[in-house]
Amino acid sequence: MVGIFITFEGLDGAGKSTQIQRVRQRLEDSGQTVVCTREPGGTKLGESIREILLNPASVIGPEAEALLYAASRAELVKEVIRPALGEGKIVISDRYVDASLAYQGAGLGLGVKRVQSVNSFATGDLEPNLTFLFDLPVETSQERVTKDRGAQGKEPDRLERRSQGYFTLVREQFLDIAKANPKRVHVVDASLPVDQLEMVIWKRVRDLMQGNSSAYNKARDS
Ligand code: TYD
Repeated sequence: MVGIFITFEGLDGAGKSTQIQRVRQRLEDSGQTVVCTREPGGTKLGESIREILLNPASVIGPEAEALLYAASRAELVKEVIRPALGEGKIVISDRYVDASLAYQGAGLGLGVKRVQSVNSFATGDLEPNLTFLFDLPVETSQERVTKDRGAQGKEPDRLERRSQGYFTLVREQFLDIAKANPKRVHVVDASLPVDQLEMVIWKRVRDLMQGNSSAYNKARDS
């Protein structure tokens, strides 16, 4: 059995978590087993790495930052994602390799190819079947993050403190990845009303599952 691997990407404040919960519910209602995870994190080691990465007191150079994300990801792929896919489950990850290409490769200027090669090693080249890119203007992302932080009474984390120029490079890189991978990456307008966005996502996921089961049946019948 081979499961399905779906990732959600985009700037902070794009509304990924709400949509992940909704698609998870729909999938479970249709009888699927779903494993949801997030990056950085999702394993014991990953959650420790997450704390280091988000802590405003951490001093981390760009190379070490990219490697920490990759280390968290390597563990997640090995411990959670591959085993679940092997059992035929649907895995949904809040961020994956594309985030590192955009944030560290482009945003921090490490180079997309270099960050890709570190991640090929970390993941053993495991690619998602489908990626939703939540696109929204940098200003909107920053307004939403500031509002959320205010509501939670929390200070911005180490990464949220970066400049508008940084997030502009990140957004452009995400869009370049989508252009280069039109079959895998589905760009959605994150400013759409939540219910409308839910329908766009659900339709695409259902199409993917139908394609998957007909491919499975074909292989079985041949
Ligand atoms: P996220 O979990 O979305 O943050 P929050 O829980 O605060 O909404 O992601 C954490 C941060 O890490 C986010 O600012 C994006 C950044 N990030 C990278 O820079 N590179 C990566 O490879 C990943 C996975 C995340």
